Amino acid sequence: MTMPLQDTVKILWNEEQAPSYFKMGLAAPELARTATPGQFVMVRVRDSIDPMLRRPFSIHNLLKDGGNVRGFEILYKVVGKGTKILSELRAGEYLSVLGPLGNGFTCPKDLQNVFLVAGGIGIAPLYYLTSVLEFIARNRPFWCTLFFGGRAADDILCKEAFQILGVDIKLSTENGSLGYKGLVTSPLEKELASGERPDIIYACGPKPMLKEIYQIAASHDIPCQFSLEAVMACGFGACLGCAIKGTKKGSKYLHVCMEGPVFDPKLIEW
Ligand SMILES: Cc1cc2nc3c(=O)[nH]c(=O)nc-3n(C[C@H](O)[C@H](O)[C@H](O)COP(=O)(O)OP(=O)(O)OC[C@H]3O[C@@H](n4cnc5c(N)ncnc54)[C@H](O)[C@@H]3O)c2cc1C
Ligand code: FES
Repeated sequence: MTMPLQDTVKILWNEEQAPSYFKMGLAAPELARTATPGQFVMVRVRDSIDPMLRRPFSIHNLLKDGGNVRGFEILYKVVGKGTKILSELRAGEYLSVLGPLGNGFTCPKDLQNVFLVAGGIGIAPLYYLTSVLEFIARNRPFWCTLFFGGRAADDILCKEAFQILGVDIKLSTENGSLGYKGLVTSPLEKELASGERPDIIYACGPKPMLKEIYQIAASHDIPCQFSLEAVMACGFGACLGCAIKGTKKGSKYLHVCMEGPVFDPKLIEW
């Protein structure tokens, strides 16, 4: 694992994508060059004592200028004080960022058929993951299906960007305003029941969604990698605030920031 960098970086853009959802581009070539899909950064949303703690955000996309990496994007939802402050920042202002942090997704070289499952803002780390998987498989057959669910149509972001990567997208919304009406796990279950068998399921979203995906995947014996969320104070193993219960004897608690945020769900006490 490469050492995380702490840097003050320039905001390139901070644009609203849908009500409460923003995409921010950050000029951070050194940090971005070492970041792998699924890793995250801790952002100090302003240079003052309040809010004191940095906030964690997944690396959504790398920014490239020809062959050179010049930074990365985060995709975020405004849910409280920190993200509200973040949403009010403008291009040209500066932010303190620490990263890349965490373990990231494993991207085996021989994958042929991948399922991605996202719930709401859980889509954020899956775009960078997909672009890396597509790159690894660029000279051979590769199928990628994204099951993407939200409460309503406004929660469905980045659809065109995934389509450009050649991803087959199956949308669902709880209120039926876009795609299948219901939870994202229903189309997933249906696809697996039809005999479709991906090599792996990558997922990110609310814990109840992940728990259900794990149960569905286990009944078809399909390996999974899930990106988990936890409230984080430090992001590098110092505060123990992000501990979750593990199943393995001898490692009763796992730190989402260090051993995660990506886990094999078999290792987690659901
Ligand atoms: C590894 C990791 C990666 C993340 N990546 C992204 C991302 O790419 N985009 C994004 O929008 N969000 C992401 N999050 C969640 C994001 O960090 C929180 O939404 C953010 O810290 C909330 O800050 P706030 O000050 O606006 O809200 P607060 O005022 O701190 O809290 C407002 C509400 O949000 C809830 N909340 C706070 N922190 C979290 C959290 N970590 N997970 C779930 N709910 C939380 C609180 O319980 C409360 O209900 C990630 C979290 C982790 C741990
Ligand atoms: S966030 Fe502090 S130990 Fe994980």
